[in-house]
Amino acid sequence: MKEEIERIKQNSLEEIAKCKEEKNLNEIKVKYLGKKGELTAVLRGMGKLSPEERPVVGSLVNQVRDELEILIEKKEKEFKKQQIEKKLETENIDVTEPSKRVRLGSIHPITQIIQEVEEIFLGMGYEIADGPEVEKAIYNFDKLNTPPDHPARDLQDTFYITEDIVLRSQTSPVQARVMEKQKPPIKIICPGAVYRSDSVDATHSPVFHQIEGLVVDKNIAMTDLKGTLEMFAKKCLGENTKIRFRPHHFPFTEPSAEADVSCFVCGGKGCRVCKGEGWIELLGCGMVHPNVLENCGIDPEEYSGFAFGFGVERIAMAKFGIEDMRLLFENDVRFLKQF
Ligand code: DAH
Repeated sequence: MKEEIERIKQNSLEEIAKCKEEKNLNEIKVKYLGKKGELTAVLRGMGKLSPEERPVVGSLVNQVRDELEILIEKKEKEFKKQQIEKKLETENIDVTEPSKRVRLGSIHPITQIIQEVEEIFLGMGYEIADGPEVEKAIYNFDKLNTPPDHPARDLQDTFYITEDIVLRSQTSPVQARVMEKQKPPIKIICPGAVYRSDSVDATHSPVFHQIEGLVVDKNIAMTDLKGTLEMFAKKCLGENTKIRFRPHHFPFTEPSAEADVSCFVCGGKGCRVCKGEGWIELLGCGMVHPNVLENCGIDPEEYSGFAFGFGVERIAMAKFGIEDMRLLFENDVRFLKQF
């Protein structure tokens, strides 16, 4: 038995010394020290020995096992060290190498205008409302007093998903959605994308952005509308901005108006931006039509309101001096990083 143990010891020591890979070291470990290993087998066979021999052989096996374990551990550490050294050699980092530049984007001019307008109206106590871009025709048109034969409902003008569902052609349907849900007083603005069946050119795009405003309360009058828009124009376009109303027609307001602002580039003298007019057309607005209030469950005898809506691209173009609307949608960073 002692010779057997001695043989095992010699063989294993030799194998460990020759071992060149961590994987093989594991195999050696299993071969000699594992549950079915050679040394373990010796221990199992001790039953056959005399009572005097047993402790002697037992302690010899333990000695050899301890020795093997220490050697194997040492060898394992060696392998680990080699691995690290190899890594350090092959994966060295050149700390003097120039780093890759992180390019920070900028806020899109359309978003900038929306954020600025939101700030101004939040400051006047308005809340920001939201509505779906894929909208029921009933909200986009009917509830807004826009009858089935109105030209805006033509296939040429509006994108239809089905007969009853459209891509909203204006942010005005949010007015109806808010009035149905909320009792007056109502003071909201709603920015968002709208869609029209227009071909692309320097001043048209089938998708663009609007900001809608709605105020409904007791005793709201046209003067409130004018005061609000004047305040907004001064804050957004400059303290000296003047505003003027021209009569107009929208189905959902009565009376309706279009509002112009004095040109904030030339101050009203006439320039390229205002095309020599001195005025820039800004928005549509008016007093909410009693039919609209009624359609949305608000008593027009008790409440009145005003509404307005304007295009964001138009303001962005005038404010930033952008001459072609397409630039706003092409996502060319050379253009965008200027803002
Ligand atoms: N929705 C109108 C448009 O797209 C703009 C508009 C006009 C909105 C008058 C209003 C309003 O709220 O009162 O042309």
